[in-house]
Amino acid sequence: MKKEIHIITYGTFDMFHIGHLRLLQRLKSLGDKLIVAVSTDEFNSIKGKKTLIPYDQRAVIVENIKCVDMVIPENNWEQKISDVQKFRVDIFAMGDDWTGKFDFLKEYCDVIYLDRTKNISTTQLKQELNSFLDIYEK
Ligand code: CTP
Repeated sequence: MKKEIHIITYGTFDMFHIGHLRLLQRLKSLGDKLIVAVSTDEFNSIKGKKTLIPYDQRAVIVENIKCVDMVIPENNWEQKISDVQKFRVDIFAMGDDWTGKFDFLKEYCDVIYLDRTKNISTTQLKQELNSFLDIYEK
C-alpha cells in the first residue's frame, strides 16, 4: 500500500483571508493529510500578538476549510519536534516569512517555505480597516 504523506503547518490565521486559503490549498496538494496547528490566544500573547478572532473560532474556521484534515492547538515554540513525531509528519511547511527559522526540523522531515500571496496579510487588513473607519466616521 502507498504511504500517506502527512503535512503540517503553524499559524495564527486571524481574520482568515485569501493568503491563508492559498497557502493551505498548496500545502494539501503536496500530499494526503494536512494538519494545521493554530496558535492559541495564550501563545499569541507570549508572541506579543493580539487577535481579533478568539482561538475557538479561528480553529473551527480552519478546520472547516475543505483541504484541512485536522487542527491542533499551537501552545508553545517547543512542541514542533514532538508534533512531527506524533503525527508522522513528512513535510513541515510555512510561508517564506519564516525562511530558515525551522531548518532544525530537517533532521525529522522535509522542511519547506512557500511564497506568500502578495499584498495581503492580517496586519494589512487591520490597517485598512483603521483607515476605512477614519474616513467614514468623520
Ligand atoms: N501567509 C501567506 N500569504 C499571506 C499571508 C500569510 O502565505 N499573504 C501564510 C504565512 O506565511 C503563514 C500562514 O499563512 O505560513 C499563517 O500566517 P499568519 O501569520 O496567521 O497570517 P498573516 O496574514 O501573515 O498575519 P500577520 O499579518 O498578523 O502576521
